Amino acid sequence: MESNREVFGSNLMAIFALAGSAIGLGNIWRFPYMVGQHGGAAFIIVYIVCTLFFSLPIFYCESLIGRKTGQSTIGAMRQLAPGSRWALIGIFTVLGPLLITSFYSVVGGWSFAYLLRSCFSSFGAMSHAEIGSMFAQFTGSVWGPVLAHTAFLLASAVIISAGVRRGIEAFTKYTLPPLMLLMVLLMAYSVSLPGARTGVEYLVKPDFSRLDAGAIAAAMGQSFFSLSLGIGTVLTYASYMGKKDNIVSTGAWTAVFDLGFALIAGFVVMPAVFAAGLEPQAGPGLVFETLPFIFADMGASAPLLSKVVTITFFLSVLLAALTSEISMYEVCTAYLVEERGMARKKATLLVFFVAWTIGVACAVFTKVFSFCDFVSSNILMTLGALAFSLFVGWRMKKAAVEAELTNDGSLPGNRTVFKVFYFLTRYIVPVGIAIIFLSNFISL
Ligand code: PHE
Repeated sequence: MESNREVFGSNLMAIFALAGSAIGLGNIWRFPYMVGQHGGAAFIIVYIVCTLFFSLPIFYCESLIGRKTGQSTIGAMRQLAPGSRWALIGIFTVLGPLLITSFYSVVGGWSFAYLLRSCFSSFGAMSHAEIGSMFAQFTGSVWGPVLAHTAFLLASAVIISAGVRRGIEAFTKYTLPPLMLLMVLLMAYSVSLPGARTGVEYLVKPDFSRLDAGAIAAAMGQSFFSLSLGIGTVLTYASYMGKKDNIVSTGAWTAVFDLGFALIAGFVVMPAVFAAGLEPQAGPGLVFETLPFIFADMGASAPLLSKVVTITFFLSVLLAALTSEISMYEVCTAYLVEERGMARKKATLLVFFVAWTIGVACAVFTKVFSFCDFVSSNILMTLGALAFSLFVGWRMKKAAVEAELTNDGSLPGNRTVFKVFYFLTRYIVPVGIAIIFLSNFISL
């Protein structure tokens, strides 16, 4: 079975795919807000520390399991711990990505709908109240969100059914560089707006007094979600990596791209928000209510520029969401292909129907949406990550872990990283995950 398994064309392509998964809505609608709320540059420092000492070790746990076994989540556990209950990890790594695929597609659909709207009509003539009620009206209706979700999920299905090389790799390869470029252009525009300074300060001014336990838990949780950990996406993509690829540097580059994009997104969003004299907020409201308002405001004096900026923004959101969506979609598909012996096209279709159905329920009923979001992000992801880190730290043989991270000793430079990583994985990461888990239920 392993011999006809696809692999990424090069290490760079693996980095692109993993960075594509990491870069998503989390970077655009949550990171900028969190930075401002929790002390600007001070939060960014904590975020980097959390990424280095907490999220990257989990990233490495997943990568080394995937690359070593060349299998998707359940098969990988079964191969490394035959006859044990570790394969039960599949509960997190099939259910988790399936739920996230479903509701993420609903939000992806919103960005698609807003992209169309910005092409064919203008936000220019609307007031803030009108734009706000347009969002409430749109998400409160049935047909629009369901059709948009269908289109978004269908696009993901087409990419997934084309396979690892011709689908995932080709799509991320051609999407990520233009996406970065578009965001940089938007950033240049946003910081040049009159009054943008307050927004820039909101992001960079360090305020250490705001760094309480809640801020640290938030930094951990955000860096964890942003790197797509805990539900087998990293494991599955790493299973398509070549045996000579460097897991350590791949993880580091993914984290660098992810943070870089999040910071750029911050400099797109916040200066514009403050330039318009608005209050920053997190979540869909920021992307679908506040920003269209700013573009509309601008539209009064420069309608063409306003249109171009709006289209560029929603196109970027859409692309970022798609590269993340396909990474979760792939986990479910790989499971059906490898564990259930299905043909790839059939597996893609089955995932489509299940995710479409759950997604429709999410699109129509806000409660279902929140439930899926809560269960997958707060419970399945954290428990999945806990299982991966305990497995690597306490169940796998230390020598096998070291061999995988250093490519059987041929990358001696990775040995030091291994030592630190191994310690963190055994003792620090499980505590960190417990903190994130608890912070979802009690406010720290
Ligand atoms: N990392 C993605 C984001 O920032 C979300 C995601 C989570 C993607 C888990 C895949 C798996 O939006």
